[in-house]
Amino acid sequence: MPDKMSDKKQTKIVQAGRKKEWTRGVVNPPVYHASTVLFETYAELREGVKKAFQGELFYGRLGTPTLWALEDAMAELEGAKGAKVYGSGMAAIASSLLSVLKSGDHLLMADTVYEPTRKLAGRVLRRLGIETTFFDPMIGAKIKDLFQDKTRAVFIETPGSLTFEVPDLPAIAKAAHGIDAYVLADNTWATPLFHNALEHGADISIHAATKYIVGHADAMLGIASANARTYGLLKVTSFALGQLAGPDDAYLALRGFRTLDVRLKRHQENALDIARWLEKHPAIDRVLHPALPSCPGHEIWKRDFTGSTGLFSIVLRGGEAKNLGAFCDQLQHFGMGFSWGGFESLVLPQAPEDIRTATSWQAPGPLIRLHIGLEDVDDLKEDLDAALKRFEKTF
Ligand SMILES: Cc1ncc(COP(=O)(O)O)c(C=O)c1O
Repeated sequence: MPDKMSDKKQTKIVQAGRKKEWTRGVVNPPVYHASTVLFETYAELREGVKKAFQGELFYGRLGTPTLWALEDAMAELEGAKGAKVYGSGMAAIASSLLSVLKSGDHLLMADTVYEPTRKLAGRVLRRLGIETTFFDPMIGAKIKDLFQDKTRAVFIETPGSLTFEVPDLPAIAKAAHGIDAYVLADNTWATPLFHNALEHGADISIHAATKYIVGHADAMLGIASANARTYGLLKVTSFALGQLAGPDDAYLALRGFRTLDVRLKRHQENALDIARWLEKHPAIDRVLHPALPSCPGHEIWKRDFTGSTGLFSIVLRGGEAKNLGAFCDQLQHFGMGFSWGGFESLVLPQAPEDIRTATSWQAPGPLIRLHIGLEDVDDLKEDLDAALKRFEKTF
């Protein structure tokens, strides 16, 4: 390993987290399964207690080199003080919010966040005495109009789920930091490769690593990368909550991490090709993709992001959701299911109007979220074209 890490992300993806004491010379650190760590002498046990939080094996809940390597690699890629790994993206979100909030605090949350994140606010944080106000993700610096005396954190997703608006994170962060509030960003869509949320003002950058970092649709994982202001809070809270991930899943994430760059470039290329083709398709009303000029926040995406990934939505020109079986049921190359970020293409009909409260969603037909995988792009277009034609016959 080099003495000094390169500042190029592609090199970091290959080299970060591969400390000799963790890998013992093999390329990736092995899967360390551990609960009990044995100490030879009483003196060693006492020494172990002192060093428990300093990256020495102590007890399984404090992690093993497999987890530490992933945390180290992510922190390096994000330019974070440190990162923590969790059993799912939602666990990373919940732990991050609980790290910075306390009873009586007020939270501002973008209206476009992933639906279970909203539910966390409404069902759990409220019970703890933390009130949430939802806001239009395009609010920018005007977020200050929503500040209350007890506003302590702002949570955004960039871009938002289902409708892909790109919030102005630097403007929101500047305002929030003016009142000493924390800024948390769900950065799952872009990954650290295409958007550095910490550099753009977030205090914690959160990833459902279940998606592109694992990248093969076979493990659940979350990661939160924190700056110097929040890392201590995140570490203490996550440990107190008993949050970590199993070493097998961390290993799969570390494996996925190494090929993130090449996979994302292909997702990007395929998705952009299909999005531009769909924009001109007569059955389509709108394509919601941050890299298209029509997407709200496209200018912010151009300014702050270095790429786009495989997830975007289409709005159909007409028709009713109850007839979407005509679109979905005979697809040849697209699967249908929740999640995204694996190597395979997926469709998922969704209804933003059922979820949002601070903004209203209006569209002439149903919305379908697409995840564009690594397949041949002509196969995918043919499949979508046939599906759109089948659906058009329903109205
Ligand atoms: C944007 C976003 N954030 C967070 C999550 C939650 O991740 P997980 O399913 O790993 O809990 C998801 C899952 O779909 C997501 O799409």
